[in-house]
Amino acid sequence: MPRALVCGANGQLGQELVLTCPEHWQTLPMARSMLDIADHDQVARVLDETEPAWVINAAAFTAVDAAESEQESAQRVNGLGPEMLATQCQRRNIPLLHVSTDFVFDGTQGRPYGPDDEPKPLGVYGRSKLAGEKAVLSAGGSPVVLRTGWVYSRHGGNFVKTMLRLMAEREQLSVVEDQIGTPTWARGLALTCWGLIDHGNATGIYHWSDAGACSWYDFAAAIRHIGLDLGLLPQAATLIPIPTSQYPTPAQRPAYSVLDKTSTRNLLGHPGYHWTSQLRAMLVDLQQHEKHWL
Ligand SMILES: NC(=O)c1ccc[n+]([C@@H]2O[C@H](COP(=O)([O-])OP(=O)(O)OC[C@H]3O[C@@H](n4cnc5c(N)ncnc54)[C@H](OP(=O)(O)O)[C@@H]3O)[C@@H](O)[C@H]2O)c1
Repeated sequence: MPRALVCGANGQLGQELVLTCPEHWQTLPMARSMLDIADHDQVARVLDETEPAWVINAAAFTAVDAAESEQESAQRVNGLGPEMLATQCQRRNIPLLHVSTDFVFDGTQGRPYGPDDEPKPLGVYGRSKLAGEKAVLSAGGSPVVLRTGWVYSRHGGNFVKTMLRLMAEREQLSVVEDQIGTPTWARGLALTCWGLIDHGNATGIYHWSDAGACSWYDFAAAIRHIGLDLGLLPQAATLIPIPTSQYPTPAQRPAYSVLDKTSTRNLLGHPGYHWTSQLRAMLVDLQQHEKHWL
């Protein structure tokens, strides 16, 4: 059976890749402690020892605000790491699927971003991810770069789990309403990765998020509504919509980073699911598996 090596296997996407692995694939999950993607010797040794049929890079420095003050670490993981993986994979003829972000765009375009639209990142995280994309695409072979946005799952920390916790603790909660994007359940993203790999002819840049678009405030309102409906929240804070100017963060974020998924949908023959139904499915998953989610 062919084996796919998953880098960053303890992350949100990494864990979902392992959970959704199709029957005809076997995963080789590599947590950071087993494989540091920016360590040349480790990458070479692991590839030689495991001889995977594909490598999926779900490893990243994803703390967008922390990246502003930890520029070197962000660049090492998001820029140098993918370069290391891509050159070492290319040397061994191993195809690479690398995951990137909607934050490579500046958010001023006013319509969904297609894979060919010009990236113009606003912050350190976006710039480091763009450097990683470029390194992967220029290493040769037929790599796949899959951009996504606003990822959440029952694993690790993310907006959905933070909102649930804060809504249970507080009476009022202010949430930004003038940044628009699309939430993406890591499970659907993982299935899309497997779909691209199984397709056989995918190469270049693709976009994937769940369907539709919303603000962080809309996202929080849906979490509140479904959280109450499922009994995850006994009571919930009142939500107050605020502009970005009232919630300053170290990193500037794109005001509009919806991704155009047309080419991925056409390739895979799947329209995807609306973000609200994916959110409900994830919250049911959380309820079933994480008893101490608060
Ligand atoms: N999260 C989002 O909202 C979002 C949005 C757009 C795009 N993306 C992209 O989607 C992909 C998956 O994101 P995610 O949400 O699953 O991220 P995540 O939960 O933060 O997981 C990233 C994983 O990478 C690991 N890692 C960090 N440095 C590493 C290194 N040098 N070598 C190997 N592993 C390393 C981390 O290890 P530790 O567990 O030890 O920290 C962590 O397990 C990333 O490419 C990310 O840029 C994410």
